[in-house]
Amino acid sequence: MSSQIILPRILQVGAGASEELPNVLASLNCSRPLIITDKMMVELGYAESLKACLLQRSISADVFSDTVPEPTVGSIQAGVEQVRNGDYDCIVALGGGSPIDSAKAISILARFGGVMSDYKFPRIVNESGIPVIAVPTTAGTGSEATRFTIITDETSDEKMLCVGIGFMPVAALVDYNLTLTVPARTTADTGIDALTHAMESYVSQKANLYSDSQALAAMRLLGPNLRTSYKDGTNKPAREAMMLGSTLAGIAFSAASVALVHGMSRPIGAAFHVPHGLSNAMLLPTITEFSIPSAPERYADCARAMGVADETDTTDSANQKLLKELYALNEELQVPTPGGFGIDRAKFFELIPTMAQQALASGSPGNNPRVPTAQQIAVLYENLW
Ligand SMILES: [Fe+2]
Repeated sequence: MSSQIILPRILQVGAGASEELPNVLASLNCSRPLIITDKMMVELGYAESLKACLLQRSISADVFSDTVPEPTVGSIQAGVEQVRNGDYDCIVALGGGSPIDSAKAISILARFGGVMSDYKFPRIVNESGIPVIAVPTTAGTGSEATRFTIITDETSDEKMLCVGIGFMPVAALVDYNLTLTVPARTTADTGIDALTHAMESYVSQKANLYSDSQALAAMRLLGPNLRTSYKDGTNKPAREAMMLGSTLAGIAFSAASVALVHGMSRPIGAAFHVPHGLSNAMLLPTITEFSIPSAPERYADCARAMGVADETDTTDSANQKLLKELYALNEELQVPTPGGFGIDRAKFFELIPTMAQQALASGSPGNNPRVPTAQQIAVLYENLW
């Protein structure tokens, strides 16, 4: 059996990678970019820097900065209109996962029309939209290197997973310099998200030798550097490792899919507006504990790759160390419980059956080494409290 691996055509990696944007556009034969980003990137001056860098090469760029965290169908509509009414030949997606996910959706809707739900899974979107050049500013969702986007249908709170080559950026400029000023909270949430991508793709039932190699490399980069980048955001070697680790984790899960943590995380995010990385972080230790009995060797490999166990540890001892590490990480990185985040207990418990159904319907729990029933998912949600 073979696996199909889909990647960006260009990965520009390292300090100053984002400044290569004009060269990358030239090599793609693109000259009329629309920068899709958010208000924060405009405020921090990153959008202006990209514009200035392009202008030096006589390329003028417009900016659409109205993307929102956890993008919705409504939030991307104005972007779709702008691309349709303009003569743009590419989209530069600048920011964290939300602007990049928004840009991917806009790219397809602007070229092919229809509504977002037309493109949701199980449809596979292999059409090519307006080319997207992703410039991630967090480490990260890995969205710069995945064939997925997630757009929320605000009428039902459903997080629509959209899949296909059409959502893979044509290029990704992976520049850790852009992450040096990311606040500690975002560093922790996005960093745990990246670690979750790496772990879930390694234990996924869809894992293959290629995704394994990327996932293990990602864990080696992320495991030892998560705390450092959280505590000292200016630490360049730690930021560099986190940034590359995040992209490799994106490549891994784009090839092997995510599993139960993400499956259960999306409904929490949609119902209670918990940032994606944070709801993953809340779930990661509990779900790992639940899943280890079905893939003990694989989880032991994760512990070793992350540097919390070594070759002399037995599988069992490596797994104990892994769990200890995940609980300790949440403690040190101040990940709140659902209650600590401010979620109402009664509302949470009332929604558990719905969230369990939504989790199962997403398909991700089916990739988990231990596939849970709806009843087991409900109990896992209860245990989070
Ligand atoms: Fe994620």
